[in-house]
Amino acid sequence: MRAAELIARKRNGDALDPDDIRALIAGYARGEVPDYQMSALAMAVYFRGLEPAELSAWTDAMLRSGDVLDLSHLSGAKVDKHSTGGVGDKISLPLAPLVAACGLRVPMVSGRGLGHTGGTLDKLESIPGFRTDLSVERFVAQVADDDLRLGLAGQTEEIAPADKRLYALRDVTATVESIPLIASSIMSKKLAEGIDGLVLDVKVGSGAFMKTEADARRLAETMVEIGRRAGCATVALLTDMSRPLGRMVGNALEVRESIDILRGEGPADVRALTLRLAAEMLMLGGLARGVAEDLARSTLDGGAALKRFARVIEAQGGDPAVLEDPDRLAKAPHVVDFVAPRAGHVAGMHTARVGLAAMCLGAGRARTDDVIDPAVGLEICATVGDRVEKGQPLARIHHAGRGLDDCRAHLAAAWTFADAPVAPRPLVIDRVG
Ligand code: URA
Repeated sequence: MRAAELIARKRNGDALDPDDIRALIAGYARGEVPDYQMSALAMAVYFRGLEPAELSAWTDAMLRSGDVLDLSHLSGAKVDKHSTGGVGDKISLPLAPLVAACGLRVPMVSGRGLGHTGGTLDKLESIPGFRTDLSVERFVAQVADDDLRLGLAGQTEEIAPADKRLYALRDVTATVESIPLIASSIMSKKLAEGIDGLVLDVKVGSGAFMKTEADARRLAETMVEIGRRAGCATVALLTDMSRPLGRMVGNALEVRESIDILRGEGPADVRALTLRLAAEMLMLGGLARGVAEDLARSTLDGGAALKRFARVIEAQGGDPAVLEDPDRLAKAPHVVDFVAPRAGHVAGMHTARVGLAAMCLGAGRARTDDVIDPAVGLEICATVGDRVEKGQPLARIHHAGRGLDDCRAHLAAAWTFADAPVAPRPLVIDRVG
């Protein structure tokens, strides 16, 4: 197999042989296929797509590039959740300890920021000392420990190494927004976790990789089918990403908002989605809908999820005192307002611009070797449906002197206004699976 021939075949719109795909992905995971060839192939897939047999071989090869965990010796259901990525989407942070506190085991392998979207690993690492580079033994031990039932880790050389490389490569080669590449990336690392059930949060709208409901539905159906074939009960919610989720965008800021949720406070949309996804996970774990919803709510409001997060932070080397005193998290040295240029109702948001604005400040990466500043980001003061007066803050920019002009330029294009009131889209649009 010559990589250049496979790239040419895909570029020309021909299907690849599943064995060639397996050899190529395995070679890439071992470092034998260079990034420049994988970038070209990813771009060819972006334009040409993958047929079902190709996608199945691609996902399987990514999954088998590392260990596939066997957690069958552990009692109880092993269930995880994954989002396709959005702006201000910090749901995994309150959700994972909540569901673990409800009794499920949650082996969660997450990613870093991708494109204009934030990543769970970057958010967690803004907690002082928190380590996400867990060994397989440590990860499994945490999931097995009844006082934790949760591991929060990234792809490693042991778990989903092909996704670790390809994810970072796609981030900087404009090859993220592809249904087969997203589906194989997500499902390979999720199926490697040894889970029985998976809830997917497929984001739709201006801040998502899928801008239309039709594309989001195709992505959801593709992933649900991959899960079904692998024997993993999989459901997907299509949820709104035409506005940022919650108020905070940026790593430490999002940890603060997650702590609020774990305290029974915080923005209504983040709380509602956390509870809905928790209920979906508990239903995959065998509970009836009403019981699942009640258990999720009472566990969150009773403080058990917050306590569980404290234990997990401690187990992963972090400082659990941030939960009592969020001021221990990094804080940007400067905060300035970005104000409304006119009075009116917020009619829409170009939400990816909000993500890009945060990236310019240092909250995300433009190159694989960029270092993130955990403190910087945005506090959104007006969202779709809100009435604003001219000069009223639309956002507060938490910055450290870097990228402020570019950030403002993105924000200037992020809000649109109307004279009449506008109703925001419902948070949960549909359920697939
Ligand atoms: N999340 C992932 O894990 N992979 C993608 O490609 C997109 C979102």
